[in-house]
Amino acid sequence: MPAFKELVFSGVQPTGNLHLGNYLGAIKRFVAMQAQFECLYCVVDLHAITVWQDPAELTRQIREVTAAFLAAGIDPARSVVFNQSQVPQHAELAWIFNCVARLGWLNRMTQFKEKAGKDRENASVGLYDYPVLMAADILAYRATHVPVGEDQKQHLELTRDIAQKFNNDFAGAIQEQGHGEAFFPITEPLIGGPAARVMSLRDGTKKMSKSDPSDYSRINLTDDSDGIATKVRKAKTDAEPLPSETAGLEKRPEADNLVGIFAALNDVSREDVLREYGGAQFSAFKGALVDLAVAKLGPIGAEMKRLVADPGHIDAVLADGAARAEAIAAPNIAAVKDIVGFVRRR
Ligand code: TYM
Repeated sequence: MPAFKELVFSGVQPTGNLHLGNYLGAIKRFVAMQAQFECLYCVVDLHAITVWQDPAELTRQIREVTAAFLAAGIDPARSVVFNQSQVPQHAELAWIFNCVARLGWLNRMTQFKEKAGKDRENASVGLYDYPVLMAADILAYRATHVPVGEDQKQHLELTRDIAQKFNNDFAGAIQEQGHGEAFFPITEPLIGGPAARVMSLRDGTKKMSKSDPSDYSRINLTDDSDGIATKVRKAKTDAEPLPSETAGLEKRPEADNLVGIFAALNDVSREDVLREYGGAQFSAFKGALVDLAVAKLGPIGAEMKRLVADPGHIDAVLADGAARAEAIAAPNIAAVKDIVGFVRRR
């Protein structure tokens, strides 16, 4: 595999409340990556409409996710912050990838099966094709690293399969046109840390999600201190005190989840948390978790509020980001079209 320039890409959907899972599994890690890599962070509005969205609400949500990126510490001068629909190369490459990806590959996607549910015939074609657009998001920039939560693992495997098949199917043209062995990198998913899969506060076996009907199942980034405290205090637990070793968290999904959340918020490991709180009752541990969560999330929520009050500023950040994103994607997609054999406009 030839060396590709290291580049980070990730995306977040503007569909409903951003929660602690989005923050700890993704956005907090996006912030950390800026120190080491050139990064692009995208509000994926084309993905959002795979399920019907109220237009005014979608506009609001695009700005709110952008505000969350900035409030969490993504620096738009250093990283590229933009929304997907402003950069036409995403949709364009997705079409070419539609002709590379196989039906059998998409049929295996578990997230489509979960989201479409029993009424599969009535799901949008876009929902089915969602992972192909995701591959286009990443590969339009030839991104080498993608930080995501664990629920995106299968989609990233599909991205790797599409890159590989494109490189193989067009190996001759890729070589002849001076791109060497491969045009697309085989992107590395970056999934990890104590919060790769944050679970519902009501049921430690279910993922924390925007679509859970119970608001008590998740902490939203816009929750105030009282809201955070109530949700943590009401979180489901078992009757035992916390164990001193991580092995003691096995088969205790709720305890494991709260310890993982504490660890991720405090930038330590589960082991570190248990070293301090092993033997503690949940009442005491939850008190400490409330203080920590309020201290870490409170300022982000407040800053989001301040930012969304100035949509003009957010829109300017997005416009600047889109121009910089397009400057990277446009030559890549022009090269893809040459590789495929299209005739360029002269
Ligand atoms: P989305 O919008 O559902 O979620 C955004 C990010 O949050 C992570 N996440 C979680 N992490 C830990 N615990 C949880 N309970 C939890 N819930 C969500 C997700 O893994 C994700 O990293 N398909 C993507 C958006 C996307 C994308 C991309 C991501 C579109 N194109 C290209 C990376 C690269 C999605 O729906 O994320």
